[in-house]
Amino acid sequence: GSASRDRLRIAIQKSGRLAEPARSLLAACGLSWRESRDRLFCYGESLPVDLLLVRDDDIPGLIADGVCDLGIVGRNELDEQAAGRARIGLAPAYRELRGLGFGQCRLMLAVPEDWDWQGPRQLQGLRIATSYPAILAAWLERQGIQAQVVELSGSVEIAPRLGTADLICDLVSSGATLRANQLKPVETLLESEAVLAGPAQGFDDARAGLAQMLLRRMDGVLQLKD
Ligand code: PRP
Ligand code: ZN
Ligand code: MG
Repeated sequence: GSASRDRLRIAIQKSGRLAEPARSLLAACGLSWRESRDRLFCYGESLPVDLLLVRDDDIPGLIADGVCDLGIVGRNELDEQAAGRARIGLAPAYRELRGLGFGQCRLMLAVPEDWDWQGPRQLQGLRIATSYPAILAAWLERQGIQAQVVELSGSVEIAPRLGTADLICDLVSSGATLRANQLKPVETLLESEAVLAGPAQGFDDARAGLAQMLLRRMDGVLQLKD
């Protein structure tokens, strides 16, 4: 749960694909921030809306714990944490408020280029490296396949060459990472883009009005972009 607050706190990616478009979107909504020294926390000037700059993977947890009120993060991260919670019988702690139309990518299975891909049944007994173990495990279960999920937090694409996995399940945007590692995409598990996420339950203090105003402005900005 989150303690009562009269300022809204939004988590965005500190650096990476979503960082710049997320900041631009919030600036287009009329937000501005005081230049911060540590560059992790930006104090809102035009409105009582502050930014927290963090690793994208941490954003769902920060919302779940009430440390942040809203977050801009890939649907892939939200779904992974929701799938992880579901496996231990917990409901999702947040909700997707808006799709934001940037940061499009797919969570895909990718195999060495020289494989003759014949479908998911080929995966039986193999080792799959991924940073998305819960989504992958749920997908394998639905396909009725038993495979070994090898969890890696980064550089997943080199696992086949290192021999630590037979194939990978990772995000694909331009496809350059796969090509550089002689891998080819074969199955899509999830279509993703950046989304605005908020808590499963709404706010019951000053943050409710702030969040409502921000959403209204964001809808205006997103409409202009179409
Ligand atoms: C994803 C993925 C690859 C890269 C693929 O990482 O893990 O590294 O993007 O993009 P491409 O198809 O355009 O080459 P992401 O940018 O989400 O960063 P992260 O793994 O550090 O969170
Ligand atoms: Zn990440
Ligand atoms: Mg990456």
